[in-house]
Amino acid sequence: MRILMLNGSPHAAGVCAAALDEMKKIFDAEGVECETVHVGNKAVRGCVACNSCRMTGRCVFDDVVNEIAPKFEAADGLVVASPVYYASANATLVAVLDRLFYSTPFSKHMKVGAAVVSARRGGLSATFDELNKYFTISGMPVASSTYWNSIHGNTADEAAQDIEGIRIIRNLAHNMSFLVKSIALGKETYGLPEVERGNMTNFIR
Ligand SMILES: Cc1cc2nc3c(=O)[nH]c(=O)nc-3n(C[C@H](O)[C@H](O)[C@H](O)COP(=O)(O)O)c2cc1C
Repeated sequence: MRILMLNGSPHAAGVCAAALDEMKKIFDAEGVECETVHVGNKAVRGCVACNSCRMTGRCVFDDVVNEIAPKFEAADGLVVASPVYYASANATLVAVLDRLFYSTPFSKHMKVGAAVVSARRGGLSATFDELNKYFTISGMPVASSTYWNSIHGNTADEAAQDIEGIRIIRNLAHNMSFLVKSIALGKETYGLPEVERGNMTNFIR
């Protein structure tokens, strides 16, 4: 079992990093491998809708997105962590996720997704909803916790005082471990669920 974690904060030792470290402790204890990639400190441009990925299976901009694509393909689960910026996810992470999900041709079906958000005070649940959209359009079950996955603070030291927030993050990691293991067993026993596909419609035809 393997989980890829993306730190969408520009801070290497900020609140998102502290939350992901907390999740790693649980994954280690649960025997689930995990790797964290820091993407929030990179200069990442947005998708330009050139659609060249439809031909090549990779993004035309050869940066961290193409680096993490094979890690995502090999992973059973994906955690994305973002600081809240103006009640929304960090724009760098959004650029990474738009391009990662759009450019990669492999199936994300039944890879488990989890979003973690951090903020000083507000905009957490809007950002949480925003990030979960990547999973729920991709056939990815979403791991949840004892509250919406959020932690408060401007710094890692402040976040360490958010006792409930830390508990939420730890419970999320426990639940995610259970889900990836259960889905692996389910795949062995039942195989992946059928996916019906057809022409896409857009309400005008
Ligand atoms: C540009 C910017 C916008 C922010 N907007 C919000 C906000 O809307 N709500 C909030 O509570 N905190 C906001 N913050 C604070 C961060 O969300 C908060 O410090 C976060 O926990 C930092 O996480 P990190 O250390 O992982 O980067 C903002 C910070 C920056 C730099």
